Amino acid sequence: MAADKGAPQNRSVVQAQPNLESWPFVAVVQASHTPTTLTDPRLPDNPIIFANDAFVRLTGYGRDEILGRNCRFLGGPDTDREASNAVRNAVEEARAVSMTLLNYRKDGSPFWNQLHVSPIFDEVGMLAYFVGYQHDVTAQAEAERALRNARQELEERLAERERLILEIHHRVRNNLQTIVGLLNLEVGRGDPRLRQQFNLITQRIRVLGSIHEQLERFNQWTAIDFGRHLEETCGVLGTLFEERVAIRVDADPFMCDIQAAVPLGLIANELIAARIERIIRIGLAEHGTIQVVFRHRRQDDTIELAISDTGRGDGPMPSGEIFPAGDIVDVLVEQLGAELTVDPAAGWTVKLTVPRSALDLHSVEP
Ligand SMILES: Cc1cc2nc3c(=O)[nH]c(=O)nc-3n(C[C@H](O)[C@H](O)[C@H](O)COP(=O)(O)O)c2cc1C
Repeated sequence: MAADKGAPQNRSVVQAQPNLESWPFVAVVQASHTPTTLTDPRLPDNPIIFANDAFVRLTGYGRDEILGRNCRFLGGPDTDREASNAVRNAVEEARAVSMTLLNYRKDGSPFWNQLHVSPIFDEVGMLAYFVGYQHDVTAQAEAERALRNARQELEERLAERERLILEIHHRVRNNLQTIVGLLNLEVGRGDPRLRQQFNLITQRIRVLGSIHEQLERFNQWTAIDFGRHLEETCGVLGTLFEERVAIRVDADPFMCDIQAAVPLGLIANELIAARIERIIRIGLAEHGTIQVVFRHRRQDDTIELAISDTGRGDGPMPSGEIFPAGDIVDVLVEQLGAELTVDPAAGWTVKLTVPRSALDLHSVEP
């Protein structure tokens, strides 16, 4: 047992007490509601030489069963060995230590003991006693354990829910791919006049498939990066029409709830398809370019999708050339609470403005 440790100012120092019971502070400790023990490290195995009534009440042992024993008798089968070793090491090195341990009462019932042990040095710096304060923190420890368990259960359930949702996205995407495959079959053998209609429908379904694919790929449940979605869908469109039209996309990254991403993606698709269709119909001599710009405008917290093309020709542009699928676009724009404007001065740029609030989770009416 460590002995001569010196007595710096912050250390508890006592006069050697030949008769412990006559020490006036003992009465104070005795009356305290905090279970308290005093041990004598100068005696073999550092036994308890004093225990107050609160300690007797907490442990259920009689004072005669406590005095003269090392405190380890409170430990039991489920006491964490590492924790009690840490207390023993601190005691051997005459250091203060705080630790929460599982202890047992005389009747065998366990309790969580938040223990604090401090060495006490005499006036010449010799280790004289150890004082131990034992707090029963069972209720708190159990509440914490219940909270931890509840949290873990919740996390497991959430993970399971997430897995299921991702699985659903995967299946929806597969089904949409199957539908696209079936439509393509029909395009091949159907009436050539219906081909364009089939192609339009196929492209809309591809937009939906691409949204589900992104949800699945990025392990997202309910939101996608709409900027990335635009880049990808325009990339596909670009390769389909590369002979005649180039599509340039400049898109800010923007996380968008799936309920809003679907109408937004379909509107973008209709507007871009209208421009492609027009460039091809007009039969421009030069290669047409469509410019797609998607911005999150922080100043008024709106998002803005602007579509223009270089093949505008002279004179006004009939509205049918801007919105060939006007009905669909109108319905989706209304659903989003968005605004659609056309700027003839800026090359008939079509601009869709959506307030950010309409794109947040659950804020979009189904
Ligand atoms: C003043 C004092 C109070 C102590 N109080 C407790 C206690 O309430 N519960 C406990 O498990 N160990 C307590 N200990 C630590 C034990 O004496 C013992 O070191 C620990 O249980 C590890 O057992 P071991 O020495 O057999 O490894 C106390 C030690 C001191 C010096």
